Formats: sequence, structure tokens, C-alpha cells
Amino acid sequence: MNDLDQLVSAAQADFAAAATPAELENAKARYLGKAGQVTELLKGMGALSHEEKKTRGAEINQTKQRIESLLTERRQALAEAELQAQLKAESLDVSLPGRQHGMGGLHPVSRTMERIEAIFGSMGFEVADGPEIEEDWFNFTALNTPADHPARSMHDTFYVDTQAPDGSGHLLRTHTSPMQVRHAVQHVKRHAAALAAGQAMPEIRVIAPGRTYRVDSDATHSPMFHQCEGLWIGENVSFKDLKAVFADFFRNFFETDDLEIRFRPSFFPFTEPSAEVDIAFASGPLKGRWLEVAGSGQVHPNVVRNFGLDPERYIGFAFGMGPDRLTMLRYGVNDLRLFFDGDLRFLSQFR
Ligand code: DAH
Repeated sequence: MNDLDQLVSAAQADFAAAATPAELENAKARYLGKAGQVTELLKGMGALSHEEKKTRGAEINQTKQRIESLLTERRQALAEAELQAQLKAESLDVSLPGRQHGMGGLHPVSRTMERIEAIFGSMGFEVADGPEIEEDWFNFTALNTPADHPARSMHDTFYVDTQAPDGSGHLLRTHTSPMQVRHAVQHVKRHAAALAAGQAMPEIRVIAPGRTYRVDSDATHSPMFHQCEGLWIGENVSFKDLKAVFADFFRNFFETDDLEIRFRPSFFPFTEPSAEVDIAFASGPLKGRWLEVAGSGQVHPNVVRNFGLDPERYIGFAFGMGPDRLTMLRYGVNDLRLFFDGDLRFLSQFR
């Protein structure tokens, strides 16, 4: 191997050792740069004869070309390697599942509320909404439950301020029944002129769904729960109508005619007589079991008076039912607390 072949081999090894384009350019300078080895060879030709210059010059030029083509080859290889590395680093796996957007849905109890509103709406009931922080008077006193009434002890609640003897204190409402009074008083105000003239007043037919609160917590009671109040007052509204409304409602709600309804005597201060409403399914997992679903009764004359109406002329019924309970029955859920834990693994099953 002559000196020129050695030079080419050395350049080849040097270029191969360069791992980056910058290293390769440094290696190039060592051979082809101003002070590079090939340049030095060309400078060294000054001492040669004309003939020697011719052959040596051609050889050196050939060497230079070989080194240049090795350089080009290595440059391309490095660029290709760089491209491959970049492609690999930025690679996209198009078979991965896409990013999903979480799909929201209505809470099962909200679905029940909407169902209740739709069914009662179809029977001509308005929907009323009222405050969860309620005045003592609306929550108790106006409902025939004065300050020392024993029935208050079953409705222990969260008191917002000191209870004044005049009933102006505030509390978290223990039931939706105060909405009977709030709505009826509004209704009576709206029809005051007709009433004063002794004319008939349009019937009160309303439901009031919403949140209620009591000091209660176990598998079937939550300190916050839902109720839906109902009120139908007119000149000729009887228990018979109440039974028809309930039959219609529960058959619609549970989407079955195979359902029995039973009224069981009970006590509520604001109704007389009062009844607990039970239903029983003729088929399905709950077949034959009586399930309590509502309280109800004929509105007490004292309460009708608090509506601003004459109890000798206006009569009707009220009821209060538990949408949470209805939701548990409809979906077969046996622990009420699941509805309020906010666990998406549970809630997303109702989407
Ligand atoms: N408010 C009662 C409760 O929470 C339920 C109730 C019973 C409502 C009878 C009524 C009714 O309107 O007539 O226990």
C-alpha cells in the first residue's frame, strides 16, 4: 500500500468514526482543509520535476477525489441515520385508541325527577320550586305543627339561626310540604279578585320536587334527600281522585299495569285523614312485597285556612313521595348512599 492509499484508508476510518455531522466536518478539515494532509501533499510538489509533477499531481488529485467521495458517502449515511432516529422518536402508533371525551349524563335521581314532572305534567299539574333554607313557619307552623308539637321531633334538622317564637327562624327544610303553603298563598293572591267576588277559583294542582334535609344517615336515609310534594285543591276534590292520580302515576312511572296500590291509615299533622301509600308489583324481583312510597291525606282545615281559603268550601289532598326511593326501586339499587357518593363507576351505569 503506497502513502496515498494509506491516506485514503485513514480518511475512511476517520470518517467512519465521526458519529455526528460536526465531527465529520472536523475530520474533513484534517484531510481536505487548508492545512489538511492532501493540501500539504500538493504543496510538497514544488520540489519535483515537470514529469514527476504530472504523475504525482494526477495521483494526488485522484486521492483527493476518493476522499471527497468517501466524505459524501459518510455525510449521506449520517443524514440518513439522523432522519431515521427522528422518525423513530416522533413515531405515531395509529392503532392506539383515540383520546376519549368524557360523556356526561343525568344523575339517576334527576332522571326520576324529570319522569315525575313529565307524568304529573301530563295530568295537568304545575311544577313549583322553592327555597331549601325555609322559614320555621312554612316548614312547621303553617302545616298545623306549632312550636311544641311532638311531630317536630321526627323532623330534627339543621337550624340556620335561632328559632324565634314568632316562627321567623330559618332551617334547612325537612320536607317539601312547605311548598304547599308557599304555592297556595301565591295562587290565592293571583285569584284574589275572583275570590272576593265569590267566583270560583281555578283549582290548585301542583307538584314541588326538591332537596330536603334531616339528621338521619344509614343505608336508606341520607341527611340530604329528595321529596316531591303534590297538592290538589278545589271545591270537589276527594280521596277518590287521590287514588286515581296515584294509580296513574305509579303505573306510568314503573311502566307496568301489574301493580297494586294500598292506602294504610297513618298520621300527619297537616292532613286528616292521613294515609301511607304502599305499592306491590305482581311480578319481578319485588313481587308481592308491599313497599311504602308516599305519605298522603286530605289537607287539614287549619292548613287550608293558612292557604287563605275557606275550608268549608275548598278541600283536597296532598302527598309527599321520595324520588330517591322510587329510583332505588326502578333500578334495583339497595343502598341510597351510592347515589350521593359521586362514584362515577356507579353513576356511569345510568347514562
Ligand atoms: N311531609 C311528609 C314527610 O316528610 C310527607 C307527607 C305526608 C306529605 C302526607 C304530604 C302528606 O303532603 O299529605 O314525612
